[in-house]
Amino acid sequence: MKTTTSKSSSKKPAAKASSKASNGNKASNGHKASNGHKPAANQDNDPDSDRSKLHKLFEDELKDIYWAEKALLKAIPKMIKKATSEELVEALENHLEETETHVQRCEEVFELLGKTAQAKKCEAMDGLITEAEEIMSESDEGVMRDAGIISAAQKVEHYEIATYGTLCTFAKTLGLNDIKELLGQTLAEEKAADEKLTEVAESSINVKAANTSEKEEEVVEEESAE
Ligand SMILES: [Fe+2]
Ligand SMILES: [Fe+2]
Repeated sequence: MKTTTSKSSSKKPAAKASSKASNGNKASNGHKASNGHKPAANQDNDPDSDRSKLHKLFEDELKDIYWAEKALLKAIPKMIKKATSEELVEALENHLEETETHVQRCEEVFELLGKTAQAKKCEAMDGLITEAEEIMSESDEGVMRDAGIISAAQKVEHYEIATYGTLCTFAKTLGLNDIKELLGQTLAEEKAADEKLTEVAESSINVKAANTSEKEEEVVEEESAE
């Protein structure tokens, strides 16, 4: 041991730095050794580096959306049960299937990071789901409730779009290209789901909802005229 100590202490600081770098390279799955430059893996291990902080933020956001996606697996079936329009039911059923894939993709991302999948309660999504349940319980079955479900579902989609958009940007900055690709697929599906809901609302539900209230108003007017 003494020999080792005297050996390493006789080395110049530059040699120490290069030995640190080679350790870092081992950890990064045998990627090419950079010629003396401090590799990215070392920055990730340094809790004070900006890169490391961004990595931590990325993981926190991932845990948040993982919780949200799993909560949606329970929330969307309730929306389907309460929806009347066939078009809306179909859109929600399709997105429920996609949501199952979103959960799996999150798990894949954890795996690529070498971490165990972990969910952290997302207060924002919890609030949006509670709001959706209130809307559904306060409205009678039919077009008005459908319009309320679309409004609540679109708020959910917008939250997911914001989160996946941020995660993609973080992944790109961190050079996590495979992960950016996976999350990008989910982001595209969230955007498409949002557009589909707008389409459903515009094509039938909002028109019917508006007509319903007009007819009701006419009835009230007729009754008051009598
Ligand atoms: Fe999703
Ligand atoms: Fe979604």
